[in-house]
Amino acid sequence: MDWVKDFYEGSVRWWGEAESVIGDRDRRRVALFHRLLGDTPKTILELGCGSATTAAAFAEAGHRVLGIELVDRSDFTAPLVERSAPGSLRVLQADFYEVDLDERFDAVTYWNGFGIGDDADQRRLLRRVATEWLTDGGTALIDVFNPLVWASWHGDLEHRPALPEAGYHHDLFERNGFDPVANRAELTWTDAADSRERFTQHLRCYSPADLRLLLEHTGLRLDRIVAGEESLDPAAVHTGHLPLLNEHYEYTAVLKPADPLAD
Ligand SMILES: C[S@@+](CC[C@H](N)C(=O)[O-])C[C@H]1O[C@@H](n2cnc3c(N)ncnc32)[C@H](O)[C@@H]1O
Repeated sequence: MDWVKDFYEGSVRWWGEAESVIGDRDRRRVALFHRLLGDTPKTILELGCGSATTAAAFAEAGHRVLGIELVDRSDFTAPLVERSAPGSLRVLQADFYEVDLDERFDAVTYWNGFGIGDDADQRRLLRRVATEWLTDGGTALIDVFNPLVWASWHGDLEHRPALPEAGYHHDLFERNGFDPVANRAELTWTDAADSRERFTQHLRCYSPADLRLLLEHTGLRLDRIVAGEESLDPAAVHTGHLPLLNEHYEYTAVLKPADPLAD
């Protein structure tokens, strides 16, 4: 995971400003959470919270959120914390593999980030969710990258022009690659003005069936998956499910504590 800190520090320079305001994506996540778990106030641990806009949207909706983020984004997170009701939003700059938290949460969320390590790293994180952070009967919601869609993007090169009015100040190229043996997407961004400014991100993708294997012995089980707005039973048959075959590059895994006798 050597690339992780450099990559995300670079991405703060490139996209930090654009990602610092609460937007539709944050509100959709709150709506999904309410659909799945109800809207009574909950305690939430958000892993890899970025600029904490999603965490702030949850705080706005009446929940108490602790966000953990590796990279210093305090310029963006501090105003959000200040605007939130006292105690409803905390952001801790820490590595979620290392941090010691002396509390448990009704829900643990990880939006758009799971898969940046190898299988052993992912399992280590899932075990921490199950054994250290979730309350009994709690739920984890984790976005997982869908290999079918990432594979279909292999070889694509996109130009992402600067959009200063939306906070995107750099003119970038994005190249997509996919390793079908490791089931890993490889995305490289290059600054059009300076090709030495280049970062590559590796994302391990898991089909729902592979995720179930990954979850074995972690203390968590796959309860449902949500693709777009649709909630699916992972044990049912989904032959020809087009949204998962070619539309959604990620799905949300709904994880519950596993039955201790089954694990
Ligand atoms: C793809 S970004 C997603 C950010 C945010 N969840 C969102 O959806 O906008 C993944 C985030 O996870 C953070 N991250 C990666 N590894 C981490 C670690 N070990 N501990 C804490 N945060 C981490 C990165 O710095 C980055 O901000």
